[in-house]
Amino acid sequence: MSTRKGIILAGGSGTRLFPVTMGISKQLLPVYDKPMIYYPLSALMLADIREIAIITTPEDQTQFQRLLGDGSQWGLRFNWITQASPDGLAQAYLLAEDFLAGSPSLMVLGDNIFFGHGLPEMLARADAQTVGGAVFGYRVADPERYGVVDFDADGQVRAIIEKPQVPPSNYAVTGLYCLDGTAPQKARRITPSARGELEITTLLELYLSEGTLSVQTMGRGYAWLDTGTHESLLDAGNFVRTLEARQGLQMGSPDEIAYAKAWIDKAAMQERAELYAKNAYGAYLSSLIG
Ligand code: G1P
Repeated sequence: MSTRKGIILAGGSGTRLFPVTMGISKQLLPVYDKPMIYYPLSALMLADIREIAIITTPEDQTQFQRLLGDGSQWGLRFNWITQASPDGLAQAYLLAEDFLAGSPSLMVLGDNIFFGHGLPEMLARADAQTVGGAVFGYRVADPERYGVVDFDADGQVRAIIEKPQVPPSNYAVTGLYCLDGTAPQKARRITPSARGELEITTLLELYLSEGTLSVQTMGRGYAWLDTGTHESLLDAGNFVRTLEARQGLQMGSPDEIAYAKAWIDKAAMQERAELYAKNAYGAYLSSLIG
């Protein structure tokens, strides 16, 4: 079991799909057959994290609570935190400071989807780094949309630059941040950027200047999908459908992971399967109980 606490940031970044005032929380939209937030939640579970703060806008919190409850259905414990306005990813560490109470953390963005055979091992390696931070670089065709890693000639990380017009590499920093217990304290030193946000890249730069930031690159065998545009949301849904149809296995199922890790017993899993009795997901869960 990891001593890290988890954070899922599902704040108001849905503006790119629908205006926030429409009340459609992006992270609750389905990505093929399950709500988007199940995928990042699954990543935290694969990292063996059971105590998780979920940060939402005040308006959206009840919707998220209705979907996710207190986490006990998966052997988890959820803490609910609101972010009054989307003032940047680094703000999550200020909002979660009491919840973290000095613990190291793994934060995942509520709209990021990770898939790959070695994911649990990769997360365990990051977890083992007790001092500093670990983030993941992933090669993308459109790095200018992300925080981008600047490597020097020896492959050492020189800088991390938020949405650069001229990207220094094709490696985007994914929305998975494994930071030590000093993250809230460091976040307090950050001032808003030109776009008015407490940038996560500025926080990472503080770790970098201390010499305690490691950037692991995720190889081509991984999928990191984001859902920040209508196109990428549909692409993610198609990816999940293709894989699940081919393998007959579910991707991003908190129920399956909780059962595999024995965080819930057979009776609890049975209950979950009955909840979905009328669709293929329920049949899948039933098949896992045998
Ligand atoms: C944020 C971060 C960026 C990171 C990205 C991952 O971007 O600021 O560094 O690469 O998430 O999804 P934003 O969602 O604010 O565009």
